[in-house]
Amino acid sequence: MPDHDVNPSRAVLITGAGGQLGIELQRCAWPQGWEVVALDRAALDLTDPSAIAAKMAERDWAAVINAAAYTAVDKAESDVVTAWAVNALAPAAFGAACAAADIPMVQVSTDYVFAGNKDGAWDIDDPVGPLGVYGASKLGGELAVRTSGARHAIVRTAWVVSAHGHNFIKTMLRVAESRDTLTVVDDQRGSPTSAADLAHALMEIALRLVDDDAAPTGTFHFSNAGAVSWAGFATEIFRQSTARGGSSAQVAPITTADYPTPARRPANSLLDTRAIREAYGIEPRAWQVALGDILDELIGAKK
Ligand SMILES: NC(=O)c1ccc[n+]([C@@H]2O[C@H](COP(=O)([O-])OP(=O)(O)OC[C@H]3O[C@@H](n4cnc5c(N)ncnc54)[C@H](OP(=O)(O)O)[C@@H]3O)[C@@H](O)[C@H]2O)c1
Repeated sequence: MPDHDVNPSRAVLITGAGGQLGIELQRCAWPQGWEVVALDRAALDLTDPSAIAAKMAERDWAAVINAAAYTAVDKAESDVVTAWAVNALAPAAFGAACAAADIPMVQVSTDYVFAGNKDGAWDIDDPVGPLGVYGASKLGGELAVRTSGARHAIVRTAWVVSAHGHNFIKTMLRVAESRDTLTVVDDQRGSPTSAADLAHALMEIALRLVDDDAAPTGTFHFSNAGAVSWAGFATEIFRQSTARGGSSAQVAPITTADYPTPARRPANSLLDTRAIREAYGIEPRAWQVALGDILDELIGAKK
């Protein structure tokens, strides 16, 4: 058992306090004595590397979890410099500060670093090939952290959903209130990921990195278990929503070509989670079960 009492600092700095993941990181059951300092944009603007350096110098942090990101995938195509500032330069600034102070860093990354053109799930060592600015800037963040000298875990995830913020579940439920049928892309596959489940995994990793110098480092993948298309995901959302008395609609499958967007998206976002299971014993549960918990929170428990 790790002994948290021997660690002088138990303050973990978390960015993206108002985002899906940041909210869930604050709701996690951190061990007694841990202090979670979650910073939103007003408290720390990640486009300002000197502000990051100053925040890191402010006190004796135990670890950093960078949960913030420029996540507007389509907007990033025309807002390149801001996307790179938040997704690459900010992780670089954290990485440098963490290396200097010998603090472990957890960086969150994305399936969008891959081109999406593989049949099976993406392994951690598979060649990257981002299709757009968001993925490229997140890859820049990975490289910055990887080469920073900081002890780190880079955790790629995909299709993040929760009861908070902007995400596919909330969009589906909202649009279903005013429409009988929704067209949803059916030729992109992935594993929906509960922000709460991801947050719990990141907390476990951060605690291990703080307490154990030999804790596994490097790149990991975390998503909930199972594979589905967006249309299949929508169908399951409405099935489970109906069971809870929530909104529902028919799902009409379409192709990516039918729904043009400024940014190209990977056709296959499936992430192989073997590395995180083997290194940390973290076993992702089925995405349908995680979805149920989110709908319980959004609509209420099953009737
Ligand atoms: N959402 C997904 O489907 C998905 C998929 C794969 C990977 N990821 C990764 O998972 C992580 C968490 O994503 P999420 O779903 O929690 O995203 P999110 O809900 O969009 O939250 C992102 C957070 O980053 C903050 N942020 C953006 N620019 C900032 C800046 N200049 N200074 C300070 N804060 C800033 C946002 O603050 P404001 O609210 O003020 O804008 C927001 O709180 C990110 O690393 C993301 O790349 C997400």
